[in-house]
Amino acid sequence: MTSNRSAPELSSARIVRHAGILSGQLQSLRERMYPPEAQKSLRSFMTNEVSRLTSIPESTLKTMSLEGKGPAPARLDNNHRVYALDQVNELREMFANAKPQEALRFLPRRRKGEHLQVIGIANFKGGSAKTTTSVHLCHYLALHGYRVLAVDLDPQASLSAMFGAQPEMDVGENETIYAALRHDENRRPISEVIRRTYFAGVDLIPGNIEVMEYEHEIPRVLSGSGKGGALFFEQLREALRQVEDQYDIVVLDTPPSLGFLTLGAIYAATGLIVTVHPAMLDVASMSQFLLMMGDLIRVIENAGATLRHDFFHYLITRHNPHDQPQAQIAAMLRHLFAEEVLVPTAIESTAVEAAGLAKRSLYELEPGEIGRDTYRRAKESMDAVNAAIVELIRKSWGRT
Ligand SMILES: Nc1ncnc2c1ncn2[C@@H]1O[C@H](COP(=O)(O)OP(=O)(O)OP(=O)(O)O)[C@@H](O)[C@H]1O
Ligand SMILES: [Mg+2]
Repeated sequence: MTSNRSAPELSSARIVRHAGILSGQLQSLRERMYPPEAQKSLRSFMTNEVSRLTSIPESTLKTMSLEGKGPAPARLDNNHRVYALDQVNELREMFANAKPQEALRFLPRRRKGEHLQVIGIANFKGGSAKTTTSVHLCHYLALHGYRVLAVDLDPQASLSAMFGAQPEMDVGENETIYAALRHDENRRPISEVIRRTYFAGVDLIPGNIEVMEYEHEIPRVLSGSGKGGALFFEQLREALRQVEDQYDIVVLDTPPSLGFLTLGAIYAATGLIVTVHPAMLDVASMSQFLLMMGDLIRVIENAGATLRHDFFHYLITRHNPHDQPQAQIAAMLRHLFAEEVLVPTAIESTAVEAAGLAKRSLYELEPGEIGRDTYRRAKESMDAVNAAIVELIRKSWGRT
């Protein structure tokens, strides 16, 4: 309350006060929903799921368990065997070693001569499902045996939150990707800002509001007051190169803006997925995005760099196939861009939304947590999208 009735509260004070009220409320909501002692953890996987993920027959898994070979599964109350994802990966290694000629089937990691895949998920339209797409892709890849690095380039840090790293609570100063890019003595090697996650096979570089510093810093550096070094748009690519031996695929979740960091992501990416919700306003906004992106890439090219992506695809997200206007826009995109629009779409589903509210992907839900049919439809759609992206990856490795 202000003491002087005639003068309204200063706007800065009002906004800061509102932010304080909200963040306090969010904090207590979060503490109720995710008590700090309840660290995020990953569910375990039933024998039939493990069999599907690894192509090891169920009967083989059962025999192994009876004979005490390989990782020992836990038993549920109903005596069913369940495996932790770490154990699934152990099985993969065992089978790949035992059957070298089929090793790729069990352990699909990249081999000598296959380049690190860096997949940028981009569109400056907010809410086009960039983060949802990123998190589902990371989880899917890890479940299928790839080594994944998820990078949160968004100061909103929704991807970090999905991985259990709450931006204001769990991510401290100089612990984001900014630390590896900054132009002062506080720069850190990228390896120091990578953290393991509860999802075996996925490491994370978290984001928080600090990431925005980069957007303020680059103009200063460009105007010559800061230290030089790699051209700014090369920085992210260079940083990733330092840890590339440890990963098969990097997934870059970008903010809904076309700033210096997004440009760095576009440059670092070997493949791009532009998420688009099939609605007129979203497509209009994407058209602006593409124009600006084209201009910016030309600036990079004028600086002497070349930019060729292994693939560049549009992914239709939050798709309601029964909505007539959406169907028209989806058809228009396919007509215009043909095979550059991924065939599978991510259908709009309350399962995705509900899982997202609990900061989880569909892959983390226990069977039965959400209506069976709703869950199945959503998961089939997400699986198809991710399988199509894996196909692009395999193709650019020259595997198919
Ligand atoms: N297939 C889907 N079905 C239902 N809801 C979805 C689906 N995909 C995304 N959403 C919901 O839409 C909202 C926006 O999604 P998301 O955060 O992934 O978008 P974004 O592009 O990352 O947004 P921003 O631009 O703010 O980073 C979220 O609430 C998410 O749960
Ligand atoms: Mg996002």
